[in-house]
Amino acid sequence: MTQSTMESAILVEGLTKSFGDVRALRGIDLAVPHGTVLGLLGPNGAGKTTAVRILTTLLQPDGGRALVEGRDVVRDAAAVRRSIGLSGQSAAIQEELTGRENLEIIGRLYHLTWRVARVRAIELLARFDLVDAADRPAKNYSGGMQRRLDLAASLVGDPKVLFLDEPTTGLDPRSRLGMWDIIRSLVEGGTTLLLTTQYLDEADELADQIVVIDHGLVIAAGTAEELKSRVGGDVLEFTVPDRSRISDAVAAVAAIGEPHADKETGMVSVGVGGRGSDALIDAVRGLDAVAVRTQGLALRRPSLDDVFLALTGHAAEEDEDGAASDRQRGRRPGRRGARPGGPDGDSRGRPRDGAGLGRDDAGAASTRVTS
Ligand SMILES: Nc1ncnc2c1ncn2[C@@H]1O[C@H](COP(=O)(O)OP(=O)(O)OP(=O)(O)O)[C@@H](O)[C@H]1O
Ligand SMILES: [Mg+2]
Repeated sequence: MTQSTMESAILVEGLTKSFGDVRALRGIDLAVPHGTVLGLLGPNGAGKTTAVRILTTLLQPDGGRALVEGRDVVRDAAAVRRSIGLSGQSAAIQEELTGRENLEIIGRLYHLTWRVARVRAIELLARFDLVDAADRPAKNYSGGMQRRLDLAASLVGDPKVLFLDEPTTGLDPRSRLGMWDIIRSLVEGGTTLLLTTQYLDEADELADQIVVIDHGLVIAAGTAEELKSRVGGDVLEFTVPDRSRISDAVAAVAAIGEPHADKETGMVSVGVGGRGSDALIDAVRGLDAVAVRTQGLALRRPSLDDVFLALTGHAAEEDEDGAASDRQRGRRPGRRGARPGGPDGDSRGRPRDGAGLGRDDAGAASTRVTS
């Protein structure tokens, strides 16, 4: 075993996987040290779930290799399964069964005795705040409760390495914070975690290292701060209600940084580095001088969309030539919030919240407007 094999709880080298002519993974590398959290970040169709399914032995890769706790996920799949837990993108709980029954049955699948399985279920129900709902069928649980139950289920076997595929998608802000607390406590307990997400703030909160993938390739890796620094600090953003004035608005703020404008929504954004309030004043003066009316002029922290824009020069769900890539992925472009659960979406069609990346807010592809 090499040094990195021993140090890494998860090690991935040159992993590839295609579905027909869709190249879901085109050779990704990852190394997750023991007891740390890796945030695997990427837009819809990036290849996140495919990577998780390979690492959890549910899917065979075409090429490359992946080790979990030093064991090969293909050659040593049974040993890998003993050391991992998975809370997938579609919850794996049995809806007709109660929360307690779900956990007890999984305990039995892990070959615990009934008595031990029962005790383990009680512990987990308490830990995930599901005691009151323990004996109700899981189908009557709210989305957040089902997510908690699903995560509890993934912990029955006391895994060393835990995979969470979009653990907070579809949760309301409060449940999301609750889930973050749970995840943090797992990490404090020494669990190694790979979590996929579409939200930079989530990776920011939870991950030691972030790997950004797009179209099956790693396009960036580093800490949240390193990724954000690529955007160059805060972002100044405003909307121009009169679309015919967008070019004027872009010209008026071009001295601050390189503006990106969305012709359809009228949204203009500019990276301002560390010059927050000065940039704000300059923007107001510049826009006022050319009499462009704006709405919602504000400074905000960079989003994953900004990171994407900085890394690739195109918005998260857009190809290099500016065309939406959903066609290529066999998906209709549109708001995620309106998307019913697909094969790799939420099994219950719960709405995904729209605070992530992609064109959810803008509703149209960003186009760079040259002035
Ligand atoms: N079983 C499958 N058969 C055919 N194509 C698939 C299959 N699973 C995934 N794909 C395709 O592989 C690509 C990567 O999908 P994957 O589910 O890994 O993306 P993801 O990053 O998890 O996206 P999301 O954020 O929507 O969950 C997509 O183009 C998807 O359509
Ligand atoms: Mg997925």
